[in-house]
Amino acid sequence: MTRDENSKTGLKQGLVNYGDEGFSLFLRKAFIKGAGYSDDALNRTIVGIVNTGSDYNPCHGNAPQLIEAVKRGVMLEGGLPIVFPTVSIAESFSNPTSMYLRNLMAIDTEEMIRAQPMDSVVLIGGCDKTVPAQLMGAVSANLPLIQLVTGAMLTSGHRGVRVGACTDCRRYWGMYRGQEIDDQEIDEVNGKLVGSVGTCSVMGTASTMACLSEAMGIALPGSASPPAVTADRMRVAENSGRQAVINARAGVTPDRILTEKAFENALRVLLAIGGSTNGIIHLTAIAGRMGYEIDLEMFDRMGRDTPVLVDLKPSGQHYMEDLHRAGGLPTVLRELKPLLHLDALTVSGRTLGEEIDAVATFEQQVVYRFDQPLYPSGGIAFLRGNLAPGGAIIKQSAADPELMEHEGRAVVFEDAADMAARIDDPELDVEADDILVLKSIGPVGAPGMPEAGYLPIPRKLARQGIRDMVRISDGRMSGTAAGTIVLHVTPESALGGPLALVRSGDRIRLSVNARSLDLLVDEAELEHRRQQWQAPVIIAERGYRKLFLEQITQADQGCDFAFLRPPMRDRRIPHRQ
Ligand code: FES
Ligand code: MG
Repeated sequence: MTRDENSKTGLKQGLVNYGDEGFSLFLRKAFIKGAGYSDDALNRTIVGIVNTGSDYNPCHGNAPQLIEAVKRGVMLEGGLPIVFPTVSIAESFSNPTSMYLRNLMAIDTEEMIRAQPMDSVVLIGGCDKTVPAQLMGAVSANLPLIQLVTGAMLTSGHRGVRVGACTDCRRYWGMYRGQEIDDQEIDEVNGKLVGSVGTCSVMGTASTMACLSEAMGIALPGSASPPAVTADRMRVAENSGRQAVINARAGVTPDRILTEKAFENALRVLLAIGGSTNGIIHLTAIAGRMGYEIDLEMFDRMGRDTPVLVDLKPSGQHYMEDLHRAGGLPTVLRELKPLLHLDALTVSGRTLGEEIDAVATFEQQVVYRFDQPLYPSGGIAFLRGNLAPGGAIIKQSAADPELMEHEGRAVVFEDAADMAARIDDPELDVEADDILVLKSIGPVGAPGMPEAGYLPIPRKLARQGIRDMVRISDGRMSGTAAGTIVLHVTPESALGGPLALVRSGDRIRLSVNARSLDLLVDEAELEHRRQQWQAPVIIAERGYRKLFLEQITQADQGCDFAFLRPPMRDRRIPHRQ
């Protein structure tokens, strides 16, 4: 019987007592041997592989192939792979919203890692909420881990035009609403938008979280960009398996990787890639699990000297597979080098700086040079004002420059149902320079903070060719969406935040330059409205929904559950200079 002397605990990890310790191990081995394992296998370093494949989740449709490749890597390094399932969340099949389930997946991930014996773990995730959920849970368990993303889908073509989910989904639907394309064409394009299994092909939340995982060093260098169905993706999986064994033996726990420097690097990268606004909520939640708070004002200041370099939709024109051919995230990191903490350790065992230096340079058109950026300053701006005392954000790189300094009349929808009922009403009193306001789609309000912040342009205006308006809500927006859209207004309206007091006809002023968002109504009138305001009745008698409503925090705390956050250290990221 070969013993892996380097295996720290193997099957003995987390041994529960069925009587004495010897008997507990005896029993545990007896059962797993029912699956045909030998003593040799069971004495190896054990790498858990989290399988989030599901027929509901085409974004994880390559999970079976990835699992095989990870297993191969683990065995090449002399370890034993053991695959286990957790919750899988697909963006499009998660009622009421995927965000509602993210923390459930985080709990599942954390507790299954804690419960089952393993020396390290490879997390296979990809679709928007899955990577943050896995990292939130797994870093709380603090076992050596490697994040492996499923990778982006391939693009496809529609009548000679290249298309990919889901910036183009929104573009074509906007054209359909504007009667530029007919029923037949919208049906036709529906079958073209998603070219293969894998995650959305633009810089949406999935691609953003893939890049941030790599930037933080918790995924292997070069692992963010290979598309789901490629040989490169399978090799990343094999290497992740190998490295998981090495890191288990070396005891590389996530607290050694996910330091303040790693989070600062991730915030830089979020800005430079023109990443999803959801990325800031997820990073806040992951950092929160390590005891760090994100200082959004400092993040905004960081944005002022961080250029947008990546020319991907929705801020630019390319797709993830193009970024991959351009060298992937390492090409971006090389340009950003002067702004990064190069001594941050990655799961490869080398520092970020060492990894960057190992990358070849070549001509490409997707990643702009630091001194000739796509946009001179960062993708996301942080706003404050009497309408958002706790802050709000706007993805300025995907907004209409003409609307970033704008004052207009509010057209208010009380909740998502109200909006759905009236937005296309020909009688709706709305003009192109009005500001659309949607309430009650915050973390508690909806509940689950749905991606309804991307309000559609009222049909009668869409038919006049209007493609963008200022839109404000306490909700989120898909990372694949674009427009002049103010999100995450905090505190949310369902809790009585000032957004709850806005009425149609009020005037609102947005100044991205001044980073301000103000309701131009005097304080006496606001106080009067505050007295009259009645909180919406949002209750649940039992179950997950009850837990959710009792524990969900606001966007500035990452919408994590309060009871899952450890005591905070006295450190805010990024650091004040
Ligand atoms: Fe899964 Fe976009 S729907 S990544
Ligand atoms: Mg998305």
